[in-house]
Amino acid sequence: MHVGIVNMKKRIALFASGSGSNAENIIRYFSTDCELEFPVVISNRADAGVHERMKNLMIPSYVFKKNDFENGTVLKFLREKAVDFIVLAGFLLKIPENLLKTYPNKIINIHPALLPKFGGKGMYGSHVHEAVLASGEKETGITIHYVNENYDEGRIIFQARCPVLPGDSPDDVAAKVHALEYEHFPRVIGKIVLCEENLTIYKDTDDMFKK
Ligand code: GRF
Repeated sequence: MHVGIVNMKKRIALFASGSGSNAENIIRYFSTDCELEFPVVISNRADAGVHERMKNLMIPSYVFKKNDFENGTVLKFLREKAVDFIVLAGFLLKIPENLLKTYPNKIINIHPALLPKFGGKGMYGSHVHEAVLASGEKETGITIHYVNENYDEGRIIFQARCPVLPGDSPDDVAAKVHALEYEHFPRVIGKIVLCEENLTIYKDTDDMFKK
């Protein structure tokens, strides 16, 4: 009988449609980690900035068309790559049923506002921050949540907040929100993937890391 080395690392696929600054931050955060690895980055856009970032990090990035996500091509690819978990880091397509069924409670997203407000179709990028400013909200933040069949409606795992100040522009808000993303998203990913952390909703505080 052949006895091989068993790779116990959890393998995470990152999905990104845009600049990929979160994808880069996550990969850098775990670069010396022995328990998580990031074998592939997947995008639906060939011109997304994430590809250049991944090239610099020597992480392979791939482009699939919308239809490939829906017809099972991406699922087959993820299986071939033995992916355990999917993290959406600025990914704009809806996740189809074939992926949701195969990865139950194993797909998470980050949204740049405090869901359930300012979520749903069309609520991405600066649209979110413009809507927050237009509504006169005094605070905004980030929401990390499980992904289900509707945009931004899966169960909330973690939120963190920042103030919206008089005179803030959408770019000002985006900068504060990005800072929260960079601080919290990697460690929340670690907690969820490694501890199989599930079902508890953490809001406003660092309770998740106090136990
Ligand atoms: C982030 O603000 C994230 O919350 C949202 O999309 C943006 C992606 O930014 N889902 P980047 O591509 O990681 O720079």
